[in-house]
Amino acid sequence: MKILVLNGSPKKKSDTMRLTDAFVRGLKKTGDHEITIVNVIDKQIAPCRGCFGCWKVKNGHCVIQDDQNAILDLYRDMDLVIWSFPLYCYGMPSHIKAVLDRTIPLNQMKMEIVDGHTRHIPLVDFSRLHTVVISGCGFPNSEHNFEALDRECELSFGNLTKIFVPETPLLNVPLAACVADPKIAAFERAGEEYTKSYSLSASTLADLQSLMIPMEEYIRNINGGV
Ligand SMILES: Cc1cc2nc3c(=O)[nH]c(=O)nc-3n(C[C@H](O)[C@H](O)[C@H](O)COP(=O)(O)O)c2cc1C
Repeated sequence: MKILVLNGSPKKKSDTMRLTDAFVRGLKKTGDHEITIVNVIDKQIAPCRGCFGCWKVKNGHCVIQDDQNAILDLYRDMDLVIWSFPLYCYGMPSHIKAVLDRTIPLNQMKMEIVDGHTRHIPLVDFSRLHTVVISGCGFPNSEHNFEALDRECELSFGNLTKIFVPETPLLNVPLAACVADPKIAAFERAGEEYTKSYSLSASTLADLQSLMIPMEEYIRNINGGV
């Protein structure tokens, strides 16, 4: 498989990337995959200007000359794209949202209705493209937290697997290794599982998305530390 990892954390030691790296280690066990990791924060990616210049030229490129066109060239060629980013204000951090906005050149202006949902007709055949979204967050709950992102991902991506993980700051706290290490090991196993059918079982997903420590204990620890 050709795999692109878009790392959307701005941090050097990303909580979310600890999980994504483990998932990728699991993927690697299943074959000789070609894996490219792009640290989005290190790239020059301006916000979309909304000019639709890309739809006039129809070459799969954006008229803004920055690092996004190299990402588009990679993206259109992939079997799997893994979007890895922390939850910010119930959605994607702005710098990786800019990457998503600027995938518009890979579509045409022409529209079609698929399963009652209007979409732009892709410029390239994406039928083989699969998407995994891995997002970590600082609150100890998924409900009242991940819903907007969940919906955005459902509407934006096909062949999608979403993994939304609460309490991810624990992953970089040495004292929490006793709960973080089993979570990381579960992500590694999930990477292996995923390649069998481009999906994860409900029980695997439940395991990946479960709390590492009870909500009240998590809040007590956070509040005690500030
Ligand atoms: C600007 C900002 C907004 C955030 N918004 C949320 C949020 O809406 N919900 C949440 O649970 N955590 C939120 N967080 C916490 C991060 O998601 C959390 O710290 C995560 O573990 C960081 O992951 P990373 O190390 O991969 O960047 C926010 C953090 C920042 C800096």
